[in-house]
Amino acid sequence: MPLPKIAPSILSADFAFLGDEINRIEAESDLLHVDVMDGHFVPNLTIGPPVVKSLRAHTEMFLDCHLMVNNPEVLLKDFADAGANRCIVHIEIGDPRPLFDQLRQLNVGVGLTLNPATPIETVLPYLSEIDLLLVMSVNPGFGGQAFMPEVLEKITAARQEANNLGLDLDIEIDGGINVTTAPMATAAGANVLVAGNAIFKDSDPAAAARAIRAAAWPE
Ligand code: DX5
Ligand code: ZN
Repeated sequence: MPLPKIAPSILSADFAFLGDEINRIEAESDLLHVDVMDGHFVPNLTIGPPVVKSLRAHTEMFLDCHLMVNNPEVLLKDFADAGANRCIVHIEIGDPRPLFDQLRQLNVGVGLTLNPATPIETVLPYLSEIDLLLVMSVNPGFGGQAFMPEVLEKITAARQEANNLGLDLDIEIDGGINVTTAPMATAAGANVLVAGNAIFKDSDPAAAARAIRAAAWPE
């Protein structure tokens, strides 16, 4: 099994010191998870393209934008211009193909995600068209929630389907990931781990990221 990738979620960082927070985890991380919430798709309001632009000027990390918004179609160009490397869109808002087309034209990576209550069958038809599938293991909206183990079978099903199709797909999990839950996710077939509270609320975020990666990688 290859080493899992670690994606700290800046939602749990101190927004007053965002640059410093990123500097602390950069060496132990593979990508930066940017939670974009619009107050409509989810009952919380966070950050958007202007912050991504500032992050782009500060770091060379891969900026992975998780769009918990109702209208990504009007925002994708702004995220691309701001320097986003990938945008992850939710299947719950409808047909994702026009969004995929727009992202490809903008030369931005394509991610697709689903909420805990959404069946995996809704995303399986798109696996060959995306760069990453994100399986939510909490209801989106807030950091620090408890992991929902019932989503693990969706990861197993998605990995099985990707293998059947001969796809080397990145499958990511987001919500409640820590040293205890990360190994469950990788055992089920995930290879990218988002973690917010478990990294940024630790007094040593780099060590916390390293510990999650080690716990999730038995080989
Ligand atoms: C939840 C977000 C997550 C969140 C994860 O809506 O999508 O990325 O920040 O935070 P933790 O790891 O604390 O559950
Ligand atoms: Zn997220």
